[in-house]
Amino acid sequence: MKKSTKLIVALLVVVAALAVTYRLMHRVPSADLEADAQMQQIITDAGCLRCHTSTPDLPFYASVPIAGKMVMEDVSKAYRVFDMTRMAEDLKAGRPLSQVDLAKVEKVILDGKMPMPKYYLVHWGASFNDAKKEIALNWVKNHRMGLLADAAVAPEFVNEPIRPIADSISVDVRKVLLGDMLFHDTRLSADNTVSCASCHGLETGGVDNKQYSEGVGGQFGGVNAPTVYNAAYNFVQFWDGRAGTLAEQAAGPPLNPVEMACESFDQITAKLAEDKAFVKAFTEVYPDGLSEKNITDAIQEFEKTLLTPNSRFDRYLKGDKDAVTADELAGYELFKKYDCATCHVGEILGGQSYELIGVQHDYFADRQAEMTEEDNGRFKQTKEERDLHRFKVPGLRNIELTAPYFHDGSMKTMDDAVRAMAKYQLGIDLPQQEVDKIVAFLRTLTGEYKGKLLTNKNMEI
Ligand code: HEC
Ligand code: HEC
Ligand code: HEC
Repeated sequence: MKKSTKLIVALLVVVAALAVTYRLMHRVPSADLEADAQMQQIITDAGCLRCHTSTPDLPFYASVPIAGKMVMEDVSKAYRVFDMTRMAEDLKAGRPLSQVDLAKVEKVILDGKMPMPKYYLVHWGASFNDAKKEIALNWVKNHRMGLLADAAVAPEFVNEPIRPIADSISVDVRKVLLGDMLFHDTRLSADNTVSCASCHGLETGGVDNKQYSEGVGGQFGGVNAPTVYNAAYNFVQFWDGRAGTLAEQAAGPPLNPVEMACESFDQITAKLAEDKAFVKAFTEVYPDGLSEKNITDAIQEFEKTLLTPNSRFDRYLKGDKDAVTADELAGYELFKKYDCATCHVGEILGGQSYELIGVQHDYFADRQAEMTEEDNGRFKQTKEERDLHRFKVPGLRNIELTAPYFHDGSMKTMDDAVRAMAKYQLGIDLPQQEVDKIVAFLRTLTGEYKGKLLTNKNMEI
């Protein structure tokens, strides 16, 4: 062989090797086309989409006259609890799937709950045999691992619905320093009395521990303040998801009449502009100077550092078997058994989907307090019937520090919140002993901030 030919051959070999390596490294689960195609077939055969969409496929009931009413009730319930449209579309298009959808599908298959066994008799042969089950469960596992590749998770826990919090997310440190100052700066409020930290104190779990937050002039809002810790993991911000990013979120409170009550961002930048030292530091990082966009960008960058890794539970997931007790572990098993981990999933055990409060029982009928605009939840934004009383699922990290609970701040203790979840979401009355175990598990979710276990000076924890 001529020297040049040899070189070309060698080059081709290298290119081919690189291509293979690239494909291996970037083997996102959706690239596993065969498994995806098999799963699509299973979903089609099982008729999941006949019930779990806004446009149920009715012909199949036509042959079941007596069952008609029952079927219609089931179909409307199916769509109410789980809309599978997006998942089916994402699957078809090879896009990454939601952790919530994966957890939900996995759980009903494990429990043998779906497709509904009672329809096997009348239905078009949707028997879900063991082979199909295995394919579906493997498919969930592969997607989950691909979505959340995290080398730190112990091999036996890679398929858990809950994931450890990252130690850090990459940030621009100069912006973080500015954002930290702004987060604690009362000049963001009309009368210079309230800062973000007034309601989201970093020494008080990132919340104010009040049912409703108190803004300028002692005014109260109508909804409970969620924590800023780990908010970077939320798929959207606010109970109703009206802000898509942390920066968009940070533009809200300063102009909110009952929170910081400023007339405009110009009013804020005018005040900050008088502070020459601050302006100098700010323009070094943002050459175009003070503006709503730059201020909220800096706050967002700071909030990305409000992570609380290294909780006892995360250490357990990373392989430290002694990090949690047998009771706490039993609590985690119950948390999974009772479907909690189909809504409270991922790194923060929530923040990934909108879900109804009152799936099995009417929460508001029992509450005995008047309905408010805030109770409408996601509906406030979309005006879609299905979104009424649907909220972004709150994350459960550091939950022992963030009482009271729920969007209306009506649950005073973790006990109350867990019992209410079991009743309204699952229709079960949990024995105290199980409530205790679940609460014990929830306490293992308290993490570290700046290398120290997070505490709350309001609560003696
Ligand atoms: C005949 C209609 C029907 C079909 C077909 C069907 N479901 Fe359901 N599904 C329902 C109903 C009704 C509920 C509500 C059950 C309840 O709350 O008691 C439900 C609930 C669910 C839930 C919510 C969790 C839960 O336990 O309530 C998931 C997830 C789910 N179904 C997934 C699936 C999947 C995946 C398939 C296909 C393999 C499927 N369903 C097929 C009617 C159906
Ligand atoms: C007067 C008290 C108050 C002040 C001041 C305040 N917040 Fe909030 N914060 C709340 C309340 C109440 C909510 C929930 C509102 C809702 O969901 O509609 C909230 C929601 C949030 C969320 C969304 C968290 C989630 O899980 O959805 C973030 C992030 C946040 N605030 C950050 C900030 C920042 C940054 C500032 C300063 C610019 C700030 N807050 C000022 C009370 C306050
Ligand atoms: C169908 C989805 C779903 C299921 C299942 C579910 N939750 Fe929730 N969880 C939510 C939603 C939505 C909220 C917010 C309710 C509200 O604010 O009105 C919530 C709130 C909570 C809160 C209060 C958090 C806070 O900061 O206010 C706790 C604690 C909790 N859930 C624990 C559990 C436990 C334990 C289980 C299982 C027994 C469970 N959840 C099952 C959706 C769910």
